[in-house]
Amino acid sequence: MGHEGPHLTFSDGDLKIGGVSAESIAGRYGTPVYVTDIDRVLERYAAALSALRARYPNSLIAFAYKSNSTKAVVEALSRRGGGATVVSLSGLKLALGCGVSPRKVVFDGPSKSREELAAAIKAGVGMINAESTQEVLEIESLCARLKARSCRVGFRVNLGIKVDTHAGLATGSSEHKFGVGREEVVRFCKDAKLARAKIFGLHSHIGSQLSDPWAFRSQTEELLSLAMELKESGVQIREFNLGGGLGVSYKRGDEAMTFDAYADATAGTFARLCKEPARLVFELGRSIVADSTILLTRVNYLKRMGSTDWALVDAGMNDFLRPALYGAYHEIVPAHTMSRAPSDKGYSIGGPVCETSDVFGTGRRIGVELSRGDLLAILDVGAYGISMASTYNMRPLPATIVVHHGRHFPTSS
Ligand code: LLP
Repeated sequence: MGHEGPHLTFSDGDLKIGGVSAESIAGRYGTPVYVTDIDRVLERYAAALSALRARYPNSLIAFAYKSNSTKAVVEALSRRGGGATVVSLSGLKLALGCGVSPRKVVFDGPSKSREELAAAIKAGVGMINAESTQEVLEIESLCARLKARSCRVGFRVNLGIKVDTHAGLATGSSEHKFGVGREEVVRFCKDAKLARAKIFGLHSHIGSQLSDPWAFRSQTEELLSLAMELKESGVQIREFNLGGGLGVSYKRGDEAMTFDAYADATAGTFARLCKEPARLVFELGRSIVADSTILLTRVNYLKRMGSTDWALVDAGMNDFLRPALYGAYHEIVPAHTMSRAPSDKGYSIGGPVCETSDVFGTGRRIGVELSRGDLLAILDVGAYGISMASTYNMRPLPATIVVHHGRHFPTSS
């Protein structure tokens, strides 16, 4: 069927994830349901980390919680010593509650509230990445008010690097709302009189779902050259944060950029050019978790409209938004069907939400003739899946189940 992976197997008409039958999970917990293989998350994390550390030993992966903040996932990464990139108060609390050491927490976001900044300062996070000069001044005055002696601040720099990705996922153009322009950072660092907010880091995230090593290399070079310029004004940068953005392959047969190629472009380039001791931080999200998770959904109804064969399933765009929002492609495969007779019928797969865009795929050849009650799996939904789910149409959030060492249990999302 072409969708087998190291943790997904298909035999006897049954899809298994981490060795556990999808049908047994759907039977036990109902559908729609997200199922994550934690061992796969940890395998991807370990592979990414070893590729980065082989090139630059003082590298930290501060996992991007926005991509997946299910408790079991972030706890497992924390236990392995992983850091956390958070963008809200709840994210910060989750990271600290899961035992992530404050120094490994990065607080990002273009418009942080005073409450969020105060909590980050009090927690003593490793870095608050500021996205405007006003935010740095706000941090300075909050530190004084909270009687915090110092706070590590990084500038998110908008490097103006154009990237090839979905327009909704590019962040690095100079017209975007993200970060501060290079000249403004230099000017501010020359003039600002800061007693408590210590400009300690430089940060940049140029976009998501990227596959161009050149963009990552030039991002690394640009940040280092800015650090050299800042050194002339007496500002010593000790932490370089290259954001996330490494893409994955969603379509079987497409090639994704490997962790090694990514590490060459980032940590490798950095190791060659950086002559001072520094920590290198990566805010990877998607590439760590995307393929760890499937979304199981049952076929409610089948019907033909004009020349289109519809399979109407019980998951909707509120459960999984990427296809509706970005036109994203995700493989959809049978997890357990009544019929095993081969069929090359193409199905359009739609959900229960009253929106035309509530469709997960069109003309999909599932390989068999579908019947009511059949179980389908939408693949590679570990990143920006449950984390972007909503209760639109007053639908409850789907359950999130974790498979670990062949056992399964619910986790909170
Ligand atoms: N750091 C920052 C500052 C970010 O804005 C993001 C993602 C990341 C790190 C993690 O990037 P990753 O390694 O996961 O590419 N909802 C979209 C993706 C939005 C990405 C937002 N920022 C999607 O479903 O594709």
